[in-house]
Amino acid sequence: MSTTAFDAITTGYRRLPSRAILKDAGGSSFAEWTSGRSADALSTNAGADALPFQRWHRFKEAFSPELIADAVRSSPVPVRRLADPFGGSGTSALAAQFLGVQPVTIEVNPFLADLIAAKLANYRVPALLTALSRVTRKASRSRRSGSSIIRMLPDTFIEPGVKDRWLFDLSVAAEVFRLRQAIEEESDPAVARLLRVLLGGLIVGFSNAVVSGKGRRYRSSWKERRVDPKCVIPMFANAVAGAIVEITACAMRPVRTATVLQGDSRALFAGVGPIDQIVCSPPYPNSFDYTDVYNMELWMLGYLKSSRGNASLRRSTLSSHVQVSRDFDQAPRTRTLDKALRALNQVADELWDARIPAMVGAYFSDLQKLLQVSAQLLPPKGQAWFVVGDSQYANVHVQVANILAELAPAAGLRVERIAPFRSMRVSPQQSGRHMLSEDLVVFSRT
Ligand SMILES: C[S@@+](CC[C@H](N)C(=O)[O-])C[C@H]1O[C@@H](n2cnc3c(N)ncnc32)[C@H](O)[C@@H]1O
Repeated sequence: MSTTAFDAITTGYRRLPSRAILKDAGGSSFAEWTSGRSADALSTNAGADALPFQRWHRFKEAFSPELIADAVRSSPVPVRRLADPFGGSGTSALAAQFLGVQPVTIEVNPFLADLIAAKLANYRVPALLTALSRVTRKASRSRRSGSSIIRMLPDTFIEPGVKDRWLFDLSVAAEVFRLRQAIEEESDPAVARLLRVLLGGLIVGFSNAVVSGKGRRYRSSWKERRVDPKCVIPMFANAVAGAIVEITACAMRPVRTATVLQGDSRALFAGVGPIDQIVCSPPYPNSFDYTDVYNMELWMLGYLKSSRGNASLRRSTLSSHVQVSRDFDQAPRTRTLDKALRALNQVADELWDARIPAMVGAYFSDLQKLLQVSAQLLPPKGQAWFVVGDSQYANVHVQVANILAELAPAAGLRVERIAPFRSMRVSPQQSGRHMLSEDLVVFSRT
């Protein structure tokens, strides 16, 4: 890009955002952040991905911020510290900050953990503007080809790809890597992290593929509709400018500190210290691995550097999928789980993967430990809100909320209520019509 074009892009971002621009970008209270949303948004994430901060990266499975407000406001004990051991897009942590509560979040995926931390951090806006200017200028003047980065990526990623298909055109990837290298040279790690995750929000759009809950597929006629490499730096500058507006508008929210831990909550949760409430949604036992959904961001931004790293990340996730070989813990015993596992073993020949019964058993072993730790961390009467979803294999229904309710007493928790949350379709292989339930289970410490 020429220097003139570059200046035209960045000139608009040198000044602090004006009052008029800040008006629609949030504010200091929870109501200002979620403005215009209807109260019935509770059970879906309807429109939540359009909220300030949440629009930095689309996260389909996020729950609505109103769920956190409901949990905090109805808690029998005052909530000063709220934990979510499955952070995802950071809904609980962000909502907690707006509600005046200290958030604690654990997320295993390093890109998502950085995304959460970047949303929750405090910034000096003039420093962000200078960094944006510096990074875009350096990237647009750089002549680096990114070949050292490309060598570390899977062959399917960069043109010429494999079997005449590739996720990123070479010229587009080179622009992304120039930005990435300029970002890595920033001296303030919090600023670099923010810029990196905002670049992450654009990665799928720069690729020749689309990503949905069902995985990744090439855009139709992608070879004719290629991404223009000249758009990469301007789009990045726009995304950062938009985020700076939101950061400025929400800079006075009641809590601006947070604890964000990157790693496996099965190992980390017990160490987070006393908390007053838990609100979370663990992955469902439906063989879906979030590592797949964020694969492009993880590799293109340098979070993953080898296939071994990829496998090790998959092994640190909850036992909710069979995407990687691993040892599965033994299933705990409950009436409903025993019945489901017996039924699964009876239809073993019809299952698309022989490890599914072991995975389902291990899933509940993981959640049993999580319930035990929750009881240790909460005060008497303190609540844990879990949003969970059922799954189904070869017509065997795995009733997650009921099984958790059976595990709760021995873990030191009482079930206050189980409420239907929303309904999910079973997989297309199983007709795609029958609805599986998704439930909110509220536990309290006995
Ligand atoms: C259903 S999503 C959570 C969505 C979140 N409630 C929100 O509103 O964005 C589950 C998350 O758990 C994370 N996860 C899976 N296994 C984990 C583990 N062992 N420790 C921590 N996080 C894990 C996944 O990466 C995923 O982001």
